[in-house]
This record gives sequence, structure tokens and C-alpha cells, in this order.
Amino acid sequence: MATNVNINAAIVGFGGMGDLHRQMINEGVRIQKKIQNIPGWRVSGSFDIRQERQAFARAHGLHAYASFEELLADPEINMVICATPNDAHKDIVLRSLKAGKNVICEKPVALSVADFDEMVRVSESTGRFFTVGQNRRWDEDYVTAKKIYEERLIGKILRIESRVHGSRGIPQDWRKAPEHGGGMVYDWGIHVIDQAIDMIHEKIKYVYASLDHYTETCVDDGLHVELTFESGLVYFVEIGTSHFIPLPRWYMTGRDGSAVIEDWSLKGKMCRVTDRSFDQSQPVQAGSGITKTMAPRVSNTTVELPLPKVESDISGFYNNITDTLYHGDIRRIQLSEVRKALEVVEAVFESAKKRKVIAFE
Ligand SMILES: NC(=O)c1ccc[n+]([C@@H]2O[C@H](COP(=O)([O-])OP(=O)(O)OC[C@H]3O[C@@H](n4cnc5c(N)ncnc54)[C@H](O)[C@@H]3O)[C@@H](O)[C@H]2O)c1
Repeated sequence: MATNVNINAAIVGFGGMGDLHRQMINEGVRIQKKIQNIPGWRVSGSFDIRQERQAFARAHGLHAYASFEELLADPEINMVICATPNDAHKDIVLRSLKAGKNVICEKPVALSVADFDEMVRVSESTGRFFTVGQNRRWDEDYVTAKKIYEERLIGKILRIESRVHGSRGIPQDWRKAPEHGGGMVYDWGIHVIDQAIDMIHEKIKYVYASLDHYTETCVDDGLHVELTFESGLVYFVEIGTSHFIPLPRWYMTGRDGSAVIEDWSLKGKMCRVTDRSFDQSQPVQAGSGITKTMAPRVSNTTVELPLPKVESDISGFYNNITDTLYHGDIRRIQLSEVRKALEVVEAVFESAKKRKVIAFE
């Protein structure tokens, strides 16, 4: 192992996400418009059950282990990155920890809270580091929305809507298969639920959910989830795969204004009220009727503001692991938060099945 490398990783499941880890670690990530390396990290090997992915790994300079066992037996490897389909995570995580490796597992880390608890127990008993690839905590749209919430830039937040809309249905792969942990709750739902838990440090009182089956019958192809927090804040998350005109990525409304973040490139704006005393609205024509309630505001009673764009990049994910392992820093992704997200996922399935509000914490 080169002396400047602390973390020598091998990837299990060298498909799309496995290769993205390789690219980010070995080729660098975009940090403030420049590609930069993540200090102290290297991916040197991988294992995939498909021969073409083994060949792809070799073509990119990795050692393609002949088996998972051979990978685990290599004393040079001190980090396993698990990026297989969801149903294979548990076995790979448990065996890697027991073989003395630190582990990053892709999301959703497990298909049940009970399976996750087993992983945590083994991580504790082996003393090995274990975390989950909740990479979307470093998305710029998310950290910008979080800033608006935390700094009350539109006043105390009353409602957050976090949406991801696509129109291609579910890809032709294991994501369509329930036995592999397919469906959009596990694919995208877990990301946006994790963001809600990371942003709002309050108890969740209620979970209410419905699932779509527009293009798939065996797995959900969309979800609509309302999380009601202790303060009354409602956080709505929606994933859709049959939405040919996507709604904005974020819509937030607070006591003093509203904010919209249109997309991942951070188009959007905030609007803050500057004068509430001005209440001389006149009825306006609306469709075939009139309305005073919904009349537009007089222009000098609000101000339009740019989004408070926050720069962020995925190097924070890897650097925090280094800092946790070697400098005693606090984990950015707490296992208790990962567990809570899986509990919410279980409540989502229960709520959708029973068509009922689930009392949560
Ligand atoms: N964090 C993110 O943003 C993000 C994005 C995409 C995917 N993911 C997650 O990454 C994981 C992989 O998704 P993907 O899109 O890369 O899928 P993929 O189908 O592109 O790749 C999965 C690979 O795993 C291999 N594989 C299957 N079973 C295996 C086993 N037992 N041992 C070794 N290899 C095995 C397959 O041959 C395939 O090459 C999933 O858990 C997914 O949820 C995360």
C-alpha cells in the first residue's frame, strides 16, 4: 500500500454505483469547479459476479478478485464498499465486518430494521467501522434547503415539499424485482427520507403514505409520504417516475415567506413578506368567479431574494470517514439516523397497505 494511502478499498458489486465510487476516489471529484483527489483514499480492487464487470475493472486498473472470499482474505484491503443490488447487502456487510474490514454499504443499507440491527451488532462486536452511502446529504440543493430551514430565512418553516420526478418508469434491472429490494421507496425514497431526518431534529409524530403502481405491479414506482413532526411542521416527500412535467425539487413555506428550488442546478428564489399591515386587497377575477383571498399581493409588500446557495461536494462524505477513523471526529451519518430512516420506510409500507396514518415516535 502506498504510504500516503490510509484507506485501501475494494468494491463488491462493480456496476453503476460501484464504478462511481471508483471514479470519485481514483479520478477525483469536482470541488469548486476543479477536479481534486480525496486525500488518503484508493480503490485497488473489486469483485463482481458478472465477467464483463470483472473485465471492466481490470481495464480501469483494478485487481478483479476471483471471488468475494479472495477479496476478504487480502490483508491489504481495509475498506469494503458494498454496491450490489439491495438484497445482497446484508450478507456482504456481515461477512466483510467478520473478516475484519471496515465497510461502506450503499443505500438502502438493509431491507428491514432487524437486518440493520444485526449489522450494527456485528460492527460493534468486531470493532470495525460501518457506514452507509447517504451521499445526498452533500447535494447542493439539499444543503441550500437546509440553510433556509435552519436560518429561518423565510421565517419559521411550516411545510417542506421535497420531490424528485422523472418520466422513464423504473429501469430494466433488479429495481423492478421485489426479491432484490426493488421499487422507488428503497431506491429514491430512502434518500429523501434520510434528508428529512438529517434536516429536522424533532420527533416524527405521524407517517402517512401512498404508493404508485403506474408502470409496475410488483414494486412501487412512486411514493407520496407526509411526515408530521412534533412542532406541527409537515414534510412531504414525493418520488414519481411517470411525471413528464416535473414539479420543483423543493417548495418551502414559512411564516414570513416561501422558497422554491427548481432543480439540482439551484434555479429558484425566495419571496419574503415585508409589510403585513397592508390589507386592502380588492376582489380579482379568477376563472368564472372572483376572489379576494387569493388576490395577488400588492407588489411593495414582498421582496424577492436569491437563493442562499451553499457549495457542497461529495468529498465531505469520504473525508468525514477518514476524520472519524483517524482523528476521532464525529460521524456525519449517525447509525441512529440510518435506523430511523429504515423505521420510517417500514411505516411507509404499513401506512400505504392499511391506508392509515401511522403514529410514529
Ligand atoms: N447513493 C446513490 O446515489 C446510489 C445511486 C445508485 C445506486 N445506489 C445503490 O448502489 C447499489 C447498486 O446499484 P447500481 O445502480 O450500481 O446497480 P447495478 O446493477 O448497476 O450494479 C450492481 C452490480 O452488482 C453485481 N452483483 C450482484 N450481486 C452480486 C454479488 N452477490 N456479489 C458481487 N457482485 C454482485 C451485479 O453484477 C452488478 O454489476 C444499490 O444498493 C443501489 O441502491 C446508490
